[in-house]
Amino acid sequence: MLSQKMETSLNQQVNAELYSSYLYLSMSAYFSEINLNGAAHWMRLQAQEELTHALKIYDYINERGGRPVLEGIEAPPKSWGSPTEVFENVLSHEQKVTSLINDLVDLAISEKDHATNNFLQWFVAEQVEEEASANDVLQKVKMTGNQGGGLFMLDQELGKRVLSPA
Ligand code: FEO
Repeated sequence: MLSQKMETSLNQQVNAELYSSYLYLSMSAYFSEINLNGAAHWMRLQAQEELTHALKIYDYINERGGRPVLEGIEAPPKSWGSPTEVFENVLSHEQKVTSLINDLVDLAISEKDHATNNFLQWFVAEQVEEEASANDVLQKVKMTGNQGGGLFMLDQELGKRVLSPA
């Protein structure tokens, strides 16, 4: 059984992952609007990945005899000043998610909930990848100065992303 506090905190993380999905889908719409269709594709896959994160936690709550509770999802921003600004936002958002995951691990440890701690380790590892990939794209976008052939080529590269298995 999950403690009430652990259950509530995991449900808050479901909401945070759904917000992440919403945020990245909004970024995808922004990139489509400015005709960077490769980046739009990259963001759409990112939104799908976040949905799988939310469902992974949702399933875990069920498995432990808890009750997934869906709350309202905050509206994400609609536009950004430049592609660089978008990826700065992705990186800072992922850093925030990492700290949320770390807080959940701290709670699981303090409650001696070894199963939840073990479950969360997948997310700990995932966040290392998430931050690294956001930073990788951010550095490349910065190099292009948000324009010209460099941005065109980066967009082509981003368009090749495939969905990684959950
Ligand atoms: Fe679900 Fe991007 O962390």
